[in-house]
Amino acid sequence: MATNQRRIAIRPMEAGDLRQVRRIERLAYGTNLPGTPFERELHNGLAQYVVAVERSPHQQPRHNGAVMGAIRRILGLDEPAEVILGFLGLWYTIDQMHVVTIAVDPTQQHRGIAQRLLLEAHTLATDAELKNIALEVRPTNARARRLYEWFGFENTGTLRAYYSDNGEDAVVMLTPDLVAPDFVERLRYLREEHAREHGATFEPPTEHAPTP
Ligand SMILES: CC(C)(COP(=O)(O)OP(=O)(O)OC[C@H]1O[C@@H](n2cnc3c(N)ncnc32)[C@H](O)[C@@H]1OP(=O)(O)O)[C@@H](O)C(=O)NCCC(=O)NCCS
Repeated sequence: MATNQRRIAIRPMEAGDLRQVRRIERLAYGTNLPGTPFERELHNGLAQYVVAVERSPHQQPRHNGAVMGAIRRILGLDEPAEVILGFLGLWYTIDQMHVVTIAVDPTQQHRGIAQRLLLEAHTLATDAELKNIALEVRPTNARARRLYEWFGFENTGTLRAYYSDNGEDAVVMLTPDLVAPDFVERLRYLREEHAREHGATFEPPTEHAPTP
């Protein structure tokens, strides 16, 4: 059945996204830390940044001509074709993927967007045949820790006074080996569960190579 619903997709971050991305970073993190150097990161060959975007079902404007298009936009009659709802930053190391940053616009949270971004990280790590995925999180960030535990990350240690804004420690979290049968099974279940709960609002995930 055709639908007029806007759908959420994941795609690589581009330079033109940075104004919206920075706004989300400021609102979601709300800390005094300097922001992520996104321009530099977009040129870092060992990094991958992606955005979750909500797309209008009508990608093509419903009018003819640039002038009419501009007038409709000024009058607020046209929705933008895409709105950025969240982002994820990843670094590739020799055998590990590192989650550098993940954030979702506070007005769009609780829609399964961060879960979908982590599932994308898993796809990319699996495709690159990496061993596991690591990250650091503030012990006080209960919501993010629940999200990571949902995914299967486990606490593996503490980095003392890791965060420079308030001297807070970091909890280091690591997934099991990505090809461990239990973890493969868990991720299969999480993908199915996400599709069941949020499938109507998301475009189908990127196809990826099956794990050995
Ligand atoms: C953390 C953050 C990214 C989550 O984004 P989000 O899009 O709202 O998260 P999602 O809706 O995809 O899912 C998160 C949920 O997975 C949930 N979850 C955990 N176990 C689950 C389970 N068994 N079944 C279903 N959901 C589960 C988490 O509890 C959380 O939901 P809740 O807080 O409503 O309980 C967002 O709050 C944010 O941007 N925070 C500020 C930036 C930040 O702290 N980033 C992390 C830095 S380390």
